[in-house]
Amino acid sequence: MIRFNEVGYQYDQSAKATVRDLSLDLQSGSFYYLCGPSGAGKTTLFKMLYMDLLPTRGDLTLFGKNTKDLTRENIAQMRRRMGVVFQDFRLLKHLSVKENVALPLIFENKSQKAIDASVEEILDWVGLGDKLLSMPDELSGGEKQRVAIARAVINRPEILIADEPTGNVDDTMAARIIHLFSELNKHGTTVLLATHDKGLIENFPNECLFLEDGMLMKGQM
Ligand SMILES: Nc1ncnc2c1ncn2[C@@H]1O[C@H](COP(=O)(O)OP(=O)(O)OP(=O)(O)O)[C@@H](O)[C@H]1O
Ligand SMILES: [Mg+2]
Repeated sequence: MIRFNEVGYQYDQSAKATVRDLSLDLQSGSFYYLCGPSGAGKTTLFKMLYMDLLPTRGDLTLFGKNTKDLTRENIAQMRRRMGVVFQDFRLLKHLSVKENVALPLIFENKSQKAIDASVEEILDWVGLGDKLLSMPDELSGGEKQRVAIARAVINRPEILIADEPTGNVDDTMAARIIHLFSELNKHGTTVLLATHDKGLIENFPNECLFLEDGMLMKGQM
């Protein structure tokens, strides 16, 4: 479902490549941690997966298509099959919590009543049942992060990519979030979760991909 073939990404011609020579097949239905120090290239890799960035070398194949050959419409369609938690959340400022979380459901033929019920259920799960009508600017960092998580999982995506999704929440909430991701994973979602949190990896073991200085190190933590 996701294949990197000698992928590189260089932000700037004069600088060294941020991601280098990355070859990797991600198995459909698996749960991977993406680990590695700050600046290793984790977010850059995720941006390529979300087709925000195209590889500057090599090929990235997603859902059977080379990301180099995509039209805008292809990209939009493929993104609807993915859930994403950005490191900087990317909530829409002018929409309420409830409206942000409902966004992925707009493309599905669901009644407003069904959408409201799903949104309320997931927001309850992440402890934000009382913030439905709040605006993003009125939330704390951890609350914004939980809204981003709710939005990413609400349509049970085929691929879930989450960049440090527990970075701003306490341990109890982090465990709840991982539990939620694991449940989706059991139902077939391929999960990729970037984290620095060793405790998380120890308590909820899954396969770990280790990125260092833009390169994938096999078999390390
Ligand atoms: N827009 C950009 N323009 C130029 N360089 C960039 C840009 N974004 C990131 N970089 C550089 O690419 C490298 C990798 O950054 P990236 O954000 O992918 O790291 P990361 O592994 O996600 O780090 P962290 O754990 O701190 O989130 C860094 O050296 C960073 O300075
Ligand atoms: Mg990052």
